[in-house]
Parts: sequence; C-alpha cells; structure tokens
Amino acid sequence: TANLQWGGRFAEGPSAIMGAINASIGFDQKMWRQDIRGSLAHAAMLAHVGVISAEDERAIRQGLDDIAESIEAGRFGFVESLEDIHMNIEARLTERIGEAGKRLHTGRSRNDQVALDVRLWVRDAIDGLSGQIRDVMRALADRAAEHAGTVMPGFTHLQPAQPVTFGHHMLAYVEMLSRDLSRFADARTRMNECPLGAAALAGTGFPIDRHMTATALGFDAPMRNSLDAVASRDFAAEFLFACAMCGTHLSRLAEEIVIWTNPYFGFVKLSDGFTTGSSIMPQKRNPDAAELVRGKTGRLNGSLIGLLTVMKGLALTYFKDMQEDKEGVFDAAENLTLCLAAMGGMVRDMQPQVDRLAEAAGAGFSTATDLADWLVRTLKMPFRDAHHATGALVAKAESMGVDLAGLTIADMRAVEPRITEDVFNVLSVASSVRSRVSYGGTAPENVARMAAEWQEKLA
Ligand code: ARG
Repeated sequence: TANLQWGGRFAEGPSAIMGAINASIGFDQKMWRQDIRGSLAHAAMLAHVGVISAEDERAIRQGLDDIAESIEAGRFGFVESLEDIHMNIEARLTERIGEAGKRLHTGRSRNDQVALDVRLWVRDAIDGLSGQIRDVMRALADRAAEHAGTVMPGFTHLQPAQPVTFGHHMLAYVEMLSRDLSRFADARTRMNECPLGAAALAGTGFPIDRHMTATALGFDAPMRNSLDAVASRDFAAEFLFACAMCGTHLSRLAEEIVIWTNPYFGFVKLSDGFTTGSSIMPQKRNPDAAELVRGKTGRLNGSLIGLLTVMKGLALTYFKDMQEDKEGVFDAAENLTLCLAAMGGMVRDMQPQVDRLAEAAGAGFSTATDLADWLVRTLKMPFRDAHHATGALVAKAESMGVDLAGLTIADMRAVEPRITEDVFNVLSVASSVRSRVSYGGTAPENVARMAAEWQEKLA
C-alpha cells in the first residue's frame, strides 16, 4: 500500500530495496528530542498566529509529550516504512490524537524540519563537547602546576633539542584545546539561526511567525533565505572540522603517551586502569587507550571529507544525498566524546618519572645552545661563530664519550682559548630551563604562573 504521508499520488508502495535505501530511521531516531522540540515550537506558533486552533495545539502538545515519554521508555517501536524520525513521530501523533495531528505539518516541510533537527542536535553536541574539553584542559593545567619545574627533554624531529619542563609541555596542549573550544564556540554562533519556516524551499503563504519559533528554540534569528535554509550544511561541516582538529590535538598527545610509556623512554607510567595486557606475552603493558584516541582521529577526518564530498556537487536546494549528513556527525560527536573522556582519564592517571625525565633531559648535548649563548654573551662572539665553536666542542665531547659538562677547561680552551670556568654555570639542565624567561618560555616561574592562570580561568 502507498505511504500514508504522501500516498495520494501513489497507487503502490515502494519496493523493498527502495524502502531499505531510503530509510534513515535506523540512525536519525537519535534526533527525536530535537524533532519534538521543533514540532512543539511550530505548533505553538501556528496557534499563536491563528493557523490552528488552541484546542488543536493542546492536543498536539499532549500527544507529543506522550510520544516523548514512550520513546524515552524504549516503548515506541520505530517503523522503517515511515522512513525517518519526522514521519514516525507525525504518524504516531495522528494515530493518537486524530485530525489535530494532521494539521501539525501546515506551513512546514521535512526539508526545513530536518535542517532544524540537525542544527539543534549539533548545537547540543557542541555544548556537551565544550564542557568535556574544559575538563581535559583542567586536568592538563593541574598536572602543569604540579610539574612546573619537572625537567624533560624537548624534541624537534624527535631528536633531543633543548630541555623544557613537563608542565610547559602540558600547557602547550591546554593552548591547543583552548583554540578548539573557541572554534566550537564560533561555529555555534554562526549556526545559531533558525531554518524552520523555510518550508520546502520557497517559504509559505501562511502567516507564520519565524521570529517567534526562532526565539522559542534559542536561536538568535530566523535564517534570511529559505533556499539557503534547506540547502546548506556548512554548519555541520564546520562542526566536523572542529571535531577533527580537536581529535588531531588529542591524537598528538596520545602519540606522545605511546612514546613516553615505551620502556626505552620510560618518561611516564600509566596505572593498570589505563593499560591492557597481551593474551600471549605475559610481560606486556600496552597503552591501548592512547592508541585508540590516535586511531579514532581517522574516522573524524573521514566524516569531514565525507560530508564535504556529499555536498560539493549539489545544485540548490534539497536532495536526498543530504540525508548522508547525519551518521558522520553523530559518529564524530560520539567518538570525540569517548576520546576526550579517555584523554582526561589518562592525563590524570599518568605518573611522570621525574628522575628518568631529568636524566633524559641532560642527554644528547641538550644544553649546547646554552653554551653557544654563553659565548655570545661573554665573549661577544657573533652567534654564527659561537654555533660553530660549540659544534666543535660537541664533536670533541662525543669522541671522548662525555657530555659537555664532562669536558675539562683545557679541552674547551683547545677549541676556544678565551673560555673561562664560568661556562660550567650554564651547562646544567636546571640552569638551562631557569634561563628561558622570555614570554611563553619554559622557565619554571613562567610555567607556574601560566598554570595558575589557566586553573583560575577553568575553575
Ligand atoms: N530523512 C530526510 C533527511 O534526512 C528528511 C528530509 C526528507 N525530505 C525530502 N524532501 N525527501 O534528509
């Protein structure tokens, strides 16, 4: 039999495969709260402007409340032949309240309805994710405060570069996540205009009040162009980019946790709570949560590219292609939620191995730049000459099997006769980090101050 919602023109129902490829109820039922919220606002507005009666509006409200209750309780029973969440709810409403249910869709289309529902869903997701990002930032800032002066190697090319502090490293991620937070906030501001009332694509002749529904649903304004309202999904793409970027930041920290927990590094330990074993190798301690945070970034990126690819060839306005917007958005939000929770857990759990970090921080001639800077400051050498002389000292130390502080003053003077004993004051890791007092530098006093600022901001 033909579909009840639009069957007037049809003598027969869809083939089984038509039904299967067409249906989105399997995934868009996640938007039931948003769909009902939108319908309540629409019905209240229709009654307000006199398009439906006050009794009809009451019946609709009562019916939708009952439906919400039965979905919440898992008693609803979604039907594939009704395609999607919009028609499942509308059909059930009419079953329950009759005539009034059939009036709900006046001056509305599934095209503006779905555009609204996805926006509301994404907006809710942004609010949830933002709270979670702040939580991870708080965890990082706490660890930074605790380890403002804990030295560790800083790397470029994953080769020893210069000593930094563990707290400074944590705060680098706080900065990245703070930009993710502001990206989500920007996207939220931009998307916070209401598509409802655009109807199918051209607007409607009914005297609807789009400002009223926009306000009721927490939007700043109705969208100004009905074609744009039903045809655009840039808000979802922007959301996915913000998710992918945040996932990329989490993935880099996850990669570092994988490296740091490797016994050859031994920089941090994770407790049993964040470690898994092997079914065959009894000695194993694997950082699976970190690996999964890193791995899941792949699907976030995939969802972003997927949606951009769906949209790029579509003429205005709506095509069923756009039904493909939802799964990627849901999946990204759910997986980023998981990743943020797992990362917050790992950051709170990890135990920096302070002695090992200090040992590693001094290895690899990591204070060579301090030595070159000393030559510049004390002997007024041009930096390029100082760099060259220091390189020769590093080569000498390496061939003797000692670090820079292991060279005698005679060894040093063989390379640069004007060097004095004072040089030994700048060769330690502690003096190196202490000297990095430039704004944003790794000096423990800087790090402690920044950590405290973030802790206060995030409290
Ligand atoms: N399930 C559809 C979607 O997700 C709802 C909109 C259907 N509109 C239409 N003209 N067929 O996009």
